[in-house]
Formats: sequence, structure tokens, C-alpha cells
Amino acid sequence: MTETRTGSGRFITLEGGEGAGKSTQIAALCGWLADRGITTVRTREPGGAAGAEEIRTLLVTGEPGKWDAITEALLMNAARRDHVVRTIRPALERGDWVVCDRFYDSTLVYQGAAGGVPMAILRDLIDMAVEDTRPDLTLILDIDPETGLARAGARAGGGTGGETRFERKGSAFHARVAQGFRDLASAEPERCVLIDAVQPLDDVTRDILSAVSDRLSLR
Ligand code: TMP
Repeated sequence: MTETRTGSGRFITLEGGEGAGKSTQIAALCGWLADRGITTVRTREPGGAAGAEEIRTLLVTGEPGKWDAITEALLMNAARRDHVVRTIRPALERGDWVVCDRFYDSTLVYQGAAGGVPMAILRDLIDMAVEDTRPDLTLILDIDPETGLARAGARAGGGTGGETRFERKGSAFHARVAQGFRDLASAEPERCVLIDAVQPLDDVTRDILSAVSDRLSLR
């Protein structure tokens, strides 16, 4: 496993389509790490720092066609830069572990595989935003888009507000997102683990904890 280059902490990212259950699983993972005496910073993208959260609001509200995919990629990476510099790197340098809900793989998949922006352009933007701050482990929650969007819709209806811009991009877009994440997991098996997120929640948690133990040498 690659060492974190910016300090002694470890950097774990969770990825997946809409309604894959990342929030629930991140809470379980952070609790499990805390039980092992590990100080964990839980964060998210877009967002995770004051300026990045302002950019998030621009990105996740309004009509699906409000920004084209290139503008989204620029805004996502502007937010990412702020997040890396102000939150992620300082935490890793302190020796904390960072657990992040989405990171640059979401850009490769949402703006690239699904949105059509060439991967080479996205990789250049990401390189500029993150430099050498890269995840040690990426857990990709795999769910078919119909099930995921139904879950996400129920959640939004339950009162999480108007952050539904991406959810409303249509079923063809979300099918490309799901396939994009699967392709990424097979392209980068050293860093990424694909987790079946359609299973019961406890089984998803078990698979996540076992991936973290194995890949990052924890008991
Ligand atoms: P969330 O609902 O998981 O908080 O994420 C907000 C939306 O932003 C989600 O639909 C995925 C999207 N997104 C991208 O399109 N590109 C990115 O780089 C990131 C981080 C998120």
C-alpha cells in the first residue's frame, strides 16, 4: 500500500453513485477507527472547508443544466484545492486519519465518464488541485442507479433540502456514473475496492471494515 506522502495519517475516500449509503457507512467506519484509538477527520466533497462549502452550494443547487461539465470540473477542483490545503493536508500532517465522502474519482466519473470531459483534461486539473495528496484507499460503493436514485429520492423527500441538481440529471447519466465507478475500480485495483452496496447495511459495513483492515494493516 502506498504511504501517505504528506504525513503519518492515512487518507480514505468513499465513492459511489447517488443513494449508495456513503454517509451511513462513513459513520460506522469512523466509529470503528475511533474504537482503535485513531483520531479521524470526517469530511466531504464538494465542500469540507469554508470556501469549498460556498462553491458546493453553487454546484449542487439549481437546474441540472445550469453548468456544463467543464464548468463543473473547474468549480469542483477549485473547491478541492481549498479543501486539500485547509482541511485534508493539515489533518494528515497532524497524523490524523481523513475519511472523505467523495474525492477526485467523482470528478473522473461524473464530469468525465458521464459528462464527457476528456480524462486528460480532468487529470491535469486534479493534479493542480491535489498535487501529492492522494488517497491511500478508495472504497467504491456499487449500486444499480435505479435502487440508488430511489433511496436518494426518499432521503431528499425526507428533508435534506434542495441539493438535488445531480440527482436530476437523468437515468442515462446515472447509468454512465455506475459503469464509470466499476471501470475505475478495475483500472486501479491497488487503491480501489468495489463494495456491493445493495446488500443489507451490516454486510456492507463488514466488507468496508475488512477492506480497511486488510489494506491498511489494522486489526
Ligand atoms: P453528495 O450528494 O454525495 O454530497 O455530492 C454532491 C454531488 O456532487 C453528487 O451528485 C456528485 C457530485 N460530484 C461531482 O459531480 N463531481 C465531483 O468531483 C464531486 C466531488 C461530486
